[in-house]
Amino acid sequence: MKTLKTFSLALAMTAIPAISPIAQDSRAVYITIDSDALTFTENTFKSRLEEIETKDGISIVKIDEEALPWLSLLMHKNFNRCGGFMLHEDVQDAEELLYSQDGAQLFAKNNTFANYAIDQDSLIKPMIAEVKADNISATITKLSSFKNRYYKGEFGKQSATWIKDTWTALVKNRADAKVEFFAHSQWDQPSVILTLQGASDDVIIVAGHQDSINGSFGGATSTAPGADDNASGIATVTEIIRVLADSSYQPQKTIKFMAYAAEEVGLLGSKEISTQFKKNKVNVIGVMQLDMTNFQGTKELDIVMMRDYTNDDQNNFIGAIIDRYVPGVKWGFDKCGYGCSDHASWHAQGYPASMPFEARKNDMNRNIHTARDLMSVSGGNASHASKFAKMGIGYLVELDR
Ligand code: BES
Ligand code: ZN
Repeated sequence: MKTLKTFSLALAMTAIPAISPIAQDSRAVYITIDSDALTFTENTFKSRLEEIETKDGISIVKIDEEALPWLSLLMHKNFNRCGGFMLHEDVQDAEELLYSQDGAQLFAKNNTFANYAIDQDSLIKPMIAEVKADNISATITKLSSFKNRYYKGEFGKQSATWIKDTWTALVKNRADAKVEFFAHSQWDQPSVILTLQGASDDVIIVAGHQDSINGSFGGATSTAPGADDNASGIATVTEIIRVLADSSYQPQKTIKFMAYAAEEVGLLGSKEISTQFKKNKVNVIGVMQLDMTNFQGTKELDIVMMRDYTNDDQNNFIGAIIDRYVPGVKWGFDKCGYGCSDHASWHAQGYPASMPFEARKNDMNRNIHTARDLMSVSGGNASHASKFAKMGIGYLVELDR
């Protein structure tokens, strides 16, 4: 850690100016505060403050420098804390505090892992034109027709077999492709991995979780169609596979598509796979997680890049891919606030991951993890998920160089 100052009340008291609005040209600085004080701080300082990231009860907040004395005073008054926050030189310095227990996560967030040039228009545009929403909706319908896809029990095994068979059929004419189960020792549902072998062994991954859960009743016998969470992500991956396999595209890097088992019970499938990849020193240069792609939450934004447990540079790259290849699609940032899906497993191993999501979190599909997670909630079509399939194709082909 570079410099880490505790902002003391004494300092704040001497520095407090007469009550006056914060100057417009005030410099932005980064602080860390306990997350329980965050809502209060947000309500008080409104647009002068932006939450960057929260982990393990600590939040990184970007705030106008001139607001600091006020913050210090208010923290003392309302939370009986002296100072109550730490001031950091820059966001990296603040993240070192958040991730000081875990060098791999810091590495995964701030490192640049690939060449993020965007110049493959002639290759990508014809492929994107092949994306068909009807294919995606057919896959969602099929996957959500299993009673559930729970990681234990018969239905979860049957749905895994359906995914493997479907992906195998899509690549039957490609000598460079193989589809395998990744077996897990603690439960029956296997993960599914499709490999398109490139000239290099460097790996790019586009993936989602295949399992579903009923949050109230759990278990292997309850109804959990999981149309949005996450048949939509697997259907999106499946359409990307179809378009790539049908093209004459020969990858440079090795491309892997994955359907993880046992996400809903603690990211278990992806944890095993990412741990094995790390142990085998596989050079994964990019991971895109597709978990919930077909529910349009807000008209303001189509795709929301989750900022936490993800790689900053790759997130910006994916945004630029959307701007270039999926014009008219509006994207922005949000956060889960915790390791909400399998991208967090790769992130924990030091790999660059991203999680482009279907809606702002506070505008999300409220039917997930219930018997009502059906495609009808998303209007009975897959026009929203199609944007993700196009983005995914752009991501893979531009990263593959
Ligand atoms: N698809 C969800 C994650 C999600 C939900 C992301 C809402 C953004 C908004 C995922 O399948 C899930 O349910 N994850 C678990 C966490 C996991 C560690 C068990 C969750 O969010 O409770
Ligand atoms: Zn879920």
